[in-house]
Amino acid sequence: MSGPKLTPADVRAAADRLPRVRLAHLPTPLEELPRFAAKLGGGVRVFVKRDDCTGLVLGGNKARHNEFLFGDALASGCDLFVWGALVQSNNCRTTAATCAKLGIECRLYLSKAHQKTEPQGNLLIDYLVGAHVEFTDAKIGPELNALLASKADEFRRAGRKPYFWDPPRVVPQAAVSYTVCMAEIAEQLSALGVKPSAFYVSSAGATGAGVALGKALLGFECPARLICPMPWPWHIPTRTAEDANAAAERMGLPHRLAVSDVDADESYIAPGYGLPSPAGQEAMHLLASTEAILTDHIYTAKALAALVADVRAGKYPPGSSVVFIHTGGVPAIFAEPEKVLPGM
Ligand SMILES: Cc1ncc(COP(=O)(O)O)c(C=O)c1O
Repeated sequence: MSGPKLTPADVRAAADRLPRVRLAHLPTPLEELPRFAAKLGGGVRVFVKRDDCTGLVLGGNKARHNEFLFGDALASGCDLFVWGALVQSNNCRTTAATCAKLGIECRLYLSKAHQKTEPQGNLLIDYLVGAHVEFTDAKIGPELNALLASKADEFRRAGRKPYFWDPPRVVPQAAVSYTVCMAEIAEQLSALGVKPSAFYVSSAGATGAGVALGKALLGFECPARLICPMPWPWHIPTRTAEDANAAAERMGLPHRLAVSDVDADESYIAPGYGLPSPAGQEAMHLLASTEAILTDHIYTAKALAALVADVRAGKYPPGSSVVFIHTGGVPAIFAEPEKVLPGM
């Protein structure tokens, strides 16, 4: 990484150069998990950054993202959001909720894949907050992105001003929000006198780009482990470094990440995106039963499983501290209880 070390105040000031709408409950708490850590053994302290508590209808990382995405959208005069992902998308739920709060029309195109279309979990909330929902067979990734671009084009030709899921524009913009999250963590850890040995977060996109950039800007020397929830048809570390660097550029900062600065791990995706893994199930049940904190089977439980595996493998010496950045996602467990409590 190139560029000087910044303070949390410097990072905030750089983020504040971008248009922003205040939406999330910030700063989210940083809590220690003593009962969970004791079960893992090894004398390692575990902390959780509670971004499952960001507000905007049941929290998650997208409430932070949307501060900068809606800032960008409002600054460019948009009157309509054209968004899409899986049926149980936290991203779409939070975007629909933000649109409701700001009085903007929201059109969601939800990829059916293997998920049910009964109004439950995130989908139930999409309907409640008044989004227009259409289901599609387009696969999440380039195919769905092309559909969203063409829908946005139709709306534009009809005289509307749509803001749509256009990755080169929205991913770096959203990533900025996670440099702010890392600034909060830096302040919270320093108030506790704790030096972290690692960060863990579920991401193969904007969140991870922001975490990797924020870690570098603030001079944390430990790894930021990005535990990928899904495979993408591109090289995730390369794309993440590009998105992080585009975010730094928008913040007016000279810092740049190399691909080797991105620690992305695709080994926790199995048996597939959206499908629960035995290690994820175990981590989810352990955290819920020791600390009364919920995770979801699609994203956060798999990232937590990586933390559990690394601590159990003795990767960190006794007395060291690791931080789990909880990105939310809990509504999906109500839509797919059979994936959370198999056999019940
Ligand atoms: C709960 C949760 N965690 C993590 C992620 C990954 O976020 P990103 O796309 O920024 O990598 C998502 C994405 O939808 C999510 O819903």
